[in-house]
Amino acid sequence: MSKVDINAKIPNNVDLAGDRRLQRALESWQPKYIKWWEELGPVAYKTSPVYLRTAIAVGQQGWAHFDHVSMPEYRWGIFMADAEPDRKIAFGENMGQDVWQDVPGEYRADLRRLIVVQGDTEPASVEQQRRLCLTAPSLYDMRNLFQVNVEEGRHLWAMVYLLHRYFGRDGRDEADEMLERHSGDPDNPRILGAFNEETPDWLSFFMFTYFTDRDGKYQLASLRESAFDPLSRTCEFMLKEEAHHMFVGASGIARIIHRTLDLMREHDTDQVQPHGGISLELIQKYINFHYSVSLDLFGSETSTNAANFYASGIKGRFQETKRNDDHRLIDVGRKVPEATSNGITEREVTQLAALNETLRDDYTLDCHKGLVRWNRAVAEAGVDFEFGLPYVGFHRQVGTFRDYNVTPDGRIVDDEEWNAGVGRWLPTDADRAHVKSLMVGVTEPGKIAGWIAAPTSGIHQKPFDFEYVKL
Ligand SMILES: [Fe+2]
Ligand SMILES: [Fe+2]
Repeated sequence: MSKVDINAKIPNNVDLAGDRRLQRALESWQPKYIKWWEELGPVAYKTSPVYLRTAIAVGQQGWAHFDHVSMPEYRWGIFMADAEPDRKIAFGENMGQDVWQDVPGEYRADLRRLIVVQGDTEPASVEQQRRLCLTAPSLYDMRNLFQVNVEEGRHLWAMVYLLHRYFGRDGRDEADEMLERHSGDPDNPRILGAFNEETPDWLSFFMFTYFTDRDGKYQLASLRESAFDPLSRTCEFMLKEEAHHMFVGASGIARIIHRTLDLMREHDTDQVQPHGGISLELIQKYINFHYSVSLDLFGSETSTNAANFYASGIKGRFQETKRNDDHRLIDVGRKVPEATSNGITEREVTQLAALNETLRDDYTLDCHKGLVRWNRAVAEAGVDFEFGLPYVGFHRQVGTFRDYNVTPDGRIVDDEEWNAGVGRWLPTDADRAHVKSLMVGVTEPGKIAGWIAAPTSGIHQKPFDFEYVKL
């Protein structure tokens, strides 16, 4: 088991103290990070004590410590899951060989790029969510927001460590640039499109943590299979934290639906808007939006880059080692969708070429699970409504569908039909304005805004009315 140095300036289990140059370099990055947090992290409650989870170890049991801490004093640390002895490369051309403890020269540029793209999303989401604390529906929710934020900050630390430790000068420059690009900055934006939009309201936040953090889960799970062992171990531990982010999303959406169903019953109508609720139809539109934007993050249906990453062993598939095939994917095919002016068809390609699509399929299956639970709640309330995921080609900006208007039920339509329907499929300005009008911060312990139900249990065995944030 790795030794945890929890009292170091930068808490870690990677023996930072054993590499003074690296330690000094990271300690000089630390104040830049804090400055970034103070400028672009949460806009309020900057020094309020928040009941936060802090990573202190990586074992199965007791890896986290809970206490009130003011966010600039949060102990952001560098943690890797314990090494798996004799780990071998599980796929691609180098399958069966020992995993790499250092970066092979020929894969250096690709690995650096993958780490930078992943790392860039972490601070981006903190920036996107920075105003949400002003309108948190309860202290419990505010705490969860801050928990997600500090852990995304820690994920940046995880990627910055890899850059500093394994990529020399270039890596240090990349680490600095992580704090120089900003979400939505017209001159120096974040790398991926979806990370340049502000998260404008709490419905969007829950959708983001449900759909977009789940993209993160699938990216991390593929990188956890990497032949570059330090990256694999880093991602393995990040996935532990990520699970809570998706819980925040799934439970947040479930609580909104719960409240909507209560309002429908109470007022005997499905028009809950005048009663301060969010209708099921409106929730569906947000699902359509966030799901489709998140699908774009997986890239084009076929990708030479993804194929090369796989062949060389630097990025695998979701649960690579549990799959029962040759782990080379050159001789096996699969179909991918193809949009043409004659409609939507399929074409046969090698699985190696279609890795993005395979990961997107895995992601979609996982997204469905939440919908099943939400639909059960709707059915139990005796309401005739069912949530669904739109067709994969709906509202896409990346890949084969990008130049086509595709309806949620999977038909290519002309501009006229699209324009006539889009207001039923995606949130309109009026929808967004309604949601925004409901966003009023509630800061009294045990109280909650009227558009969402209280959670059935609190955090870390604390009750809902616990003082999660001390104002
Ligand atoms: Fe993250
Ligand atoms: Fe996350």
